[in-house]
Amino acid sequence: MDGSAFQPLVAIAGGAFDQHQAVLELLQASYKAQDGVVDPPSSVTRLTLEQVIADAKAGDLLTAEAEDESIVGCVFTKTLSNEAGPYMYLHHLAVSPIQQGKGIGGMLLRTVETLARGRGIDRIQAMSRVELVDNHAFFERHGFREVSFFTHNGYHRPTSVRFEKLLAADP
Ligand SMILES: CC(C)(COP(=O)(O)OP(=O)(O)OC[C@H]1O[C@@H](n2cnc3c(N)ncnc32)[C@H](O)[C@@H]1OP(=O)(O)O)[C@@H](O)C(=O)NCCC(=O)NCCS
Repeated sequence: MDGSAFQPLVAIAGGAFDQHQAVLELLQASYKAQDGVVDPPSSVTRLTLEQVIADAKAGDLLTAEAEDESIVGCVFTKTLSNEAGPYMYLHHLAVSPIQQGKGIGGMLLRTVETLARGRGIDRIQAMSRVELVDNHAFFERHGFREVSFFTHNGYHRPTSVRFEKLLAADP
């Protein structure tokens, strides 16, 4: 497939969506490269179909579909709040390994921004494990900046970096 001509359809998976198993398999395939790299292992290694369904219900699941309707990308969002007000948290962003580097991840991020703006939310957060410096660069190139660290239970060093993007009023 010619990457430059590839225009996946990014859509919010609504109530009729029944491709949760495909989303689980996409997540497992795209996070596989993190096995033995991130410590502790990604939560995707323990992810179940039931959890994918529950995560989709807890917020929104956005998918990127190829022309043959196969799912080539996904991201989950949920609206949270802290002392600075509400923000949209995105997690489990993934693009099929053979489709990476074609702009699909960026397209999913931009759709999350549109979703947040549409709901009057002007802040987006994402977390990346400290080891994944390519992902840090990816978020930074998309306008996110490091705001804090997170430490998993039982660890004595930061294990994740929290990134945040403030959305301009007029993009
Ligand atoms: C992180 C991830 C979602 C990025 O998805 P992606 O579709 O590869 O992302 P993009 O293609 O939009 O961007 C990646 C790079 O591809 C290149 N690229 C972007 N658009 C392109 C295009 N149209 N043609 C060719 N290359 C392109 C760029 O070099 C880009 O780098 P930059 O935008 O950071 O400068 C993907 O690598 C992934 O699924 N990784 C495994 C799971 C994971 O780590 N998830 C994130 C956890 S924090």
